[in-house]
Amino acid sequence: MNISENKYGDLLGSEKIFKTISNVAGKIDQQAFVIGGYVRDQILKRETKDIDIVTLGSGIELAKKTAKVLNCSPVKIFKNFGTAMINVGEIEVQFVGARKESYRKNSRNPVVEDGTIEEDQNRRDFTINALAISLNKKDYGEFIDPFNGTQDLNEKVLKTPLDPDITFSDDPLRMMRAIRFSSQLDFNIESSTLKAIQKNADRISIVAQERITEELNKIILSDQPSKGFKLLEETGLLKLIFLEFQLLKGVDILEGKSHKDNFYHTLKVLDNILPYSKGNLWLRWAALLHDIAKPNTKRFNTKQGWTFHGHEDKGARMVPNIFRKLKLPLDHQMKYVQKLVLLHLRPISLTNESITDSALRRLLFEAGNDLEDLMTLCQSDITSKNKEKKIKYLNRFEQVKKKLRDLEDRDKIKNWQPPIGGKEIMETFNIKPCKEVGILKESIKNAILDGIIKNSYQEAYDYLLIKAKEIGIIEK
Ligand code: CTP
Repeated sequence: MNISENKYGDLLGSEKIFKTISNVAGKIDQQAFVIGGYVRDQILKRETKDIDIVTLGSGIELAKKTAKVLNCSPVKIFKNFGTAMINVGEIEVQFVGARKESYRKNSRNPVVEDGTIEEDQNRRDFTINALAISLNKKDYGEFIDPFNGTQDLNEKVLKTPLDPDITFSDDPLRMMRAIRFSSQLDFNIESSTLKAIQKNADRISIVAQERITEELNKIILSDQPSKGFKLLEETGLLKLIFLEFQLLKGVDILEGKSHKDNFYHTLKVLDNILPYSKGNLWLRWAALLHDIAKPNTKRFNTKQGWTFHGHEDKGARMVPNIFRKLKLPLDHQMKYVQKLVLLHLRPISLTNESITDSALRRLLFEAGNDLEDLMTLCQSDITSKNKEKKIKYLNRFEQVKKKLRDLEDRDKIKNWQPPIGGKEIMETFNIKPCKEVGILKESIKNAILDGIIKNSYQEAYDYLLIKAKEIGIIEK
């Protein structure tokens, strides 16, 4: 990319929208500009569906009048922020009046005053996001780049337009945004901007959790999430926004024995899983959390060295709290992550010779439709630097995969439900809900999974009667 001219009319790809805004703005004698992410992404040739328009006057008025001419969806108005939005087909157009804005210390709410286009550009986060293109008749398509943002785009640098202390204090979320853009665009953060993040990291505490988590998720979904996590760690933000992950870092040595650094190991797993998880946020979260309980379960003994017994179980129990704190959804997505964390060692433990159909059936049943993702996670967890070891593991792993496929073809366990459920057990013995119902239900399920009885109604029913006698529900 080489940007040498000062005319960027050709960047105005969504020509009809821009021409209309230009005409409407001209009629009400209000200057208007395209600004921010749209301009940046057009130059970088990235796909964008959002357009930000800044106008010297009321953004809401301009939005209403533009919507009328374009005959598009109703205008969404955000009165408190003085902004308005319209949808033109797939494109979302935001309108805002040019502002000078600043956040007061310890306050989440900005103090906003009207401003000029220069003042508006001043208060934006990074030079590459402060680029504007005029939509005004007199200089339509003129490029306005007061901070050499195009040069920074060329050099792949993230830099604040003003003194970074001021830019970050205006909105501390921008520290996370810097790291997010760095992971998404593979840009470097310029050194004084990076230092300011280290210095101002504590200020992240005034930002709403939802905004922090949105950036965190964008980092996780980016092409280089591990770059983002390393930056979060280096700048001191990680321990403030996601302490459990920070605690994975470090190596202990006792009696000359050490363990691997679980922070870097987890990032390697994340890197490994990237090609199989494009757009799959929750599989990436599972990779991030698979070893999260290692610090809590770490023990040392002379014979075995470092152990992390039960970290998969403890880790799965930590997932809801982490999701709650980060304001991530507590629904099936959390349960999915929890399940993968709980089961992440199981396929590996099956890769020894003594692998039984019953163990495989159990795994199929417990993983259900998420088996494939579990296998992907497990495979990504093989990070050994020893090439031979790695190949050996991966080969064994393929064998397990094949056996699982064969067994599933035969027994159809993934979406299987035992032939006799709790309701039928209660009706059969005329009993109310009680713990014995659970015991009987479990025993039928286990008997089928372990191959003691066949997966048929009659065998399950006969087995139920035997078990009911054993635990005294019916007389022997
Ligand atoms: N902006 C800012 N400070 C913020 C958020 C946004 O200065 N904390 C400015 C930037 O100029 C940014 C524009 O508002 O380009 C639009 O913000 P947003 O839509 O959040 O970001 P984009 O840059 O468009 O990038 P993306 O769509 O990837 O989030």
